[in-house]
Amino acid sequence: MEKELSLQLTQNIHEENQLLKASVGYLKAELNKYKELPLLVCDVKKNIHNKAIIRVANGNHFCVNVAANIQLESGDTVLVEQKSLTVVQKLDHTKSFDVDNFLILEKPSVLWESLGGLDEQIKEIKEVVELPLNNPELFKKIGIEPPKGVLLHGAPGTGKTLLAKAVATSTNTTFIPIVASELVQKFIGEGAKLVKDLFQLAKEKAPSIIFIDEIDALASQRMETGTSGEREVQRTLIQLLTEMDGFKNTPNIKVIAATNRIDTLDPAILRPGRFDRIIEFPLPSKEGRKQILSIHTKNMNLSSIDFEELLEKTHSFSGAELKAVCTEAGYYAIRDNRETIFTSDFLKAVEKIQPNINYEENSLEMFG
Ligand SMILES: Nc1ncnc2c1ncn2[C@@H]1O[C@H](COP(=O)(O)OP(=O)(O)O)[C@@H](O)[C@H]1O
Ligand SMILES: [Mg+2]
Repeated sequence: MEKELSLQLTQNIHEENQLLKASVGYLKAELNKYKELPLLVCDVKKNIHNKAIIRVANGNHFCVNVAANIQLESGDTVLVEQKSLTVVQKLDHTKSFDVDNFLILEKPSVLWESLGGLDEQIKEIKEVVELPLNNPELFKKIGIEPPKGVLLHGAPGTGKTLLAKAVATSTNTTFIPIVASELVQKFIGEGAKLVKDLFQLAKEKAPSIIFIDEIDALASQRMETGTSGEREVQRTLIQLLTEMDGFKNTPNIKVIAATNRIDTLDPAILRPGRFDRIIEFPLPSKEGRKQILSIHTKNMNLSSIDFEELLEKTHSFSGAELKAVCTEAGYYAIRDNRETIFTSDFLKAVEKIQPNINYEENSLEMFG
């Protein structure tokens, strides 16, 4: 009996010992994690024999060794050792954003009819973009140069992107959209090169329209050029202006930029020969709202809607917000198991979708 007990005890102690050993091992491994130097995340620019050209976060390039059995391609993201910058591991599924992949060509199909309340803006863009692209001879005969760049400005959701796509559709041109804020965030050290590529591509695919959204991210006046990031943005902007100043004999490329912060723009970009046509997108008037609502309810199954009340209650709604009202109204009907939409659905939707008042206040300040 006693012998059995002591055997049991030994067994328990043995088990506990095992457990503690495992726990010590675990803690040691954890401790080692704290001691280890971090690896740097870099992009592979080029693969040459057993070496690779990598780009580190600050934009500098290095030619480094690669650990055995790692197959690299340019564009891969890798981990490198801090001191020697030797590539020790390749990261999966994070093939980095390559300049070539960033530029996407589009053939938009936005018809003029799908724009509501923008008659003036349509007229103007037709004059400065459509007419010169479709009829360059006319401008030669008359002896004037059509503008190269057009700036669209106004609150978010007022149809700036839509208008740019509509003019690309009507002129059947290649549409090359880029978002300036992405340009400066994703391509540290390469913004200027991307701009060069952008114009090169536009030339190859001409007639074409380059659409630069959120241009304020690139051309903000209050930018202090202290940090390297800011200098980088500045370089990218200078490249953009250089490209625009440069293309005199390529009337079949137009640059359209958009912003909702025109107050912050560097006046340099508005100089003649650059973005010297400015088209404002105000919030839609009552008539404009009527047109926009009719566009976005075209395929909806409406029971006699009191549009008058709706129009009164959507003062200071943007086109995008009006579209959201229509979608939301449809959802109220769905939740109610109905297939027709009532005025009450729209009114509830209007309550839910509150307009972006902040912008209106700001813009009132801005434009007086
Ligand atoms: N004037 C408008 N007419 C019809 N739809 C509009 C209008 N303005 C905005 N919208 C709707 O809102 C969406 C977003 O508009 P968008 O053109 O991207 O605005 P912005 O570029 O000015 O921020 C459009 O795709 C469209 O569905
Ligand atoms: Mg837009």
